[in-house]
Amino acid sequence: MFYRGKNVLVAGGAGLVGQSLVRKLLEQGAFVRATQYTTRKVLLQHANLEVMSCDLMDENKARAAFADMDIVFLAAARVRGAKEIQANPASLILDYLYIHSKLIVLAAEMKVDRCSFISSCYIYPDTGKPNVESEGFQGDPWIPTNYGIGWTTRYLETLCRYSHMTSKTRYAIVRPNAYYGPHDNFNLDQCHVIPALIVKATQGMNPFEVWGDGKQIRSFTYVDDLVDGLMINLDTNATCSPVNISAKEAYTIKDLVSVILDILHLDVSVTYDPEKPATIPYRVSDPAKAKELLGWEARVSLRDGLMRTIDWYQKHIGRCQT
Ligand SMILES: NC(=O)c1ccc[n+]([C@@H]2O[C@H](COP(=O)([O-])OP(=O)(O)OC[C@H]3O[C@@H](n4cnc5c(N)ncnc54)[C@H](OP(=O)(O)O)[C@@H]3O)[C@@H](O)[C@H]2O)c1
Repeated sequence: MFYRGKNVLVAGGAGLVGQSLVRKLLEQGAFVRATQYTTRKVLLQHANLEVMSCDLMDENKARAAFADMDIVFLAAARVRGAKEIQANPASLILDYLYIHSKLIVLAAEMKVDRCSFISSCYIYPDTGKPNVESEGFQGDPWIPTNYGIGWTTRYLETLCRYSHMTSKTRYAIVRPNAYYGPHDNFNLDQCHVIPALIVKATQGMNPFEVWGDGKQIRSFTYVDDLVDGLMINLDTNATCSPVNISAKEAYTIKDLVSVILDILHLDVSVTYDPEKPATIPYRVSDPAKAKELLGWEARVSLRDGLMRTIDWYQKHIGRCQT
């Protein structure tokens, strides 16, 4: 009931998180304004939905998007996969830093009641076990891969905290882990591991080439589960206290490959290439605080989430070519 009748901006409404968020907010009776940018478009149509095409780095456009909003969900970003990160690590940091610092500060300036920031598990140091929230500012994030983005994320969480202290806007912070689902970026030059594997599998690649040794471990989380966590967190925990919104089970990339090939009934030979870009070997978050504080737990299994994602991809982008 919290969202009913509220004016809610989804900044980045055409992305992976944005599209799920727009749908769920409308289901809960909110008036939604969603921004879209260059590539993807907001696909939903609804009497309570206003779509605005804009570059949120443009000051005037961002102000127009934030005007009259009670709540803002920040979900606009230029997200990249291992290939682009390795080719140009600093540009990832700058894009991420510019848009988020600008919009975090703007939320307070525009007197928005509540603002949700999607932080990241890149913030955590290597502890060899599932990370808990209190480790977010301990030691250094993984060196060298996550050092820059991790410290940038620490800065953005700090900026939320500072804006929370110095304005009436209440900030809510979530730390997700390897989320995936429909509406993701499926461009092979930019995308994350799950979209990349789905594109290659549906193109019938054989031998099926996987970047890295396949042993990396992640808490893959389906996007609708993440969005449920984001919405509950903003409603009940707009206190700047970060919460891991992450599936409890962890899987390797090898597990992922075998589930995707099985869903698509593909019998191909799989090769792993440790020379190709891959990210850190172990990234698992402990979701105990989310369960205790928000009553949130991931509900969608990896297999179900992948089936939904593949189904969406085949209907909207590419059919299986084998
Ligand atoms: N995915 C991750 O690994 C990850 C990890 C931690 C945190 N996050 C955060 O989660 C949030 C949602 O990310 P996501 O995974 O949903 O990403 P996504 O699928 O790439 O969606 C982001 C959307 O933002 C749009 N956008 C990019 N630059 C913009 C600009 N200057 N002005 C307006 N819109 C712009 C993109 O437009 P186009 O459609 O034209 O590209 C895209 O539709 C972001 O705040 C991101 O920083 C993501």
